[in-house]
Amino acid sequence: MMRIKNLAMLVVAAGLLLPLAGIAHEGEAFPHAGNDPYSQASLQRGARNFMNYCSGCHSAKFVRYNRVAKDLGIPDSELRANLMFTSDKPADTIQSAMPAADAIKWFGVAPPDLSLIARSRGTDHVYAFLMGFYKDPSRPTGVNNTVLAGTAMPHVLADLQGVQTAIFKSTEAAGAPEFEKFELPVPGTLSPEQYAEFVRDTVNFLEYMAEPIQTTRRDLGVWVVLFLLIFTGFAYLLYKEFWRDVR
Ligand code: HEC
Repeated sequence: MMRIKNLAMLVVAAGLLLPLAGIAHEGEAFPHAGNDPYSQASLQRGARNFMNYCSGCHSAKFVRYNRVAKDLGIPDSELRANLMFTSDKPADTIQSAMPAADAIKWFGVAPPDLSLIARSRGTDHVYAFLMGFYKDPSRPTGVNNTVLAGTAMPHVLADLQGVQTAIFKSTEAAGAPEFEKFELPVPGTLSPEQYAEFVRDTVNFLEYMAEPIQTTRRDLGVWVVLFLLIFTGFAYLLYKEFWRDVR
């Protein structure tokens, strides 16, 4: 009897501690991306953003157009007309429009495939990266980035966001100066709030691509845990029943 109690306590403790492990794992320094993988409208906007602003350079070669259309509720006509720029076959994977050799010539590095970037870097990291471009005339692209210093990626969203300048704290200690805040002397076509929303939708789509089944998995998980709990109840009753005559 004692043993069952101990086991139950262990399960409960593990259940309580697991979410904490999750919190500790997520980066401390980055602002929270705050995207909602359950919002289909946001994911549709994110897909549009990705196809229009990113797929020119970045591929997502583990993702097929028709799967995106099905999961996100995008009609075939819409998919072909507005989202497929590098292929005309819906069953194709998302390839970048740019040959890798040219990319290396232009940027010095090939733009990474973005299928899994939201998982390898984390959504908060990618969000901060897209929010973190600032003016730096010493760079060949004219911009630098607070998340990936010296990045080869140009600020492809500068028209929308405008070009920020970064203010750094002057520190006594040697080493890189510490970033303090952004200012926006040259605004873009979007307001800062609209731009943040634009980036959030894009990151949302990147998270979807990195694990298309995520929402199904989470929903199913609830039922699985419920089943296990109820099943444990029945198993316990059965245990009592079996041992009643033995004792
Ligand atoms: C003009 C080409 C170009 C376009 C368009 C472009 N990128 Fe990039 N991107 C690059 C290059 C080049 C790199 C490699 C940067 C490096 O390693 O310094 C990169 C790197 C990245 C990375 C990796 C950052 C890291 O932490 O390693 C992410 C994430 C990313 N891009 C997201 C995007 C998103 C989202 C879009 C669309 C809004 C986009 N990119 C559009 C060229 C591009």
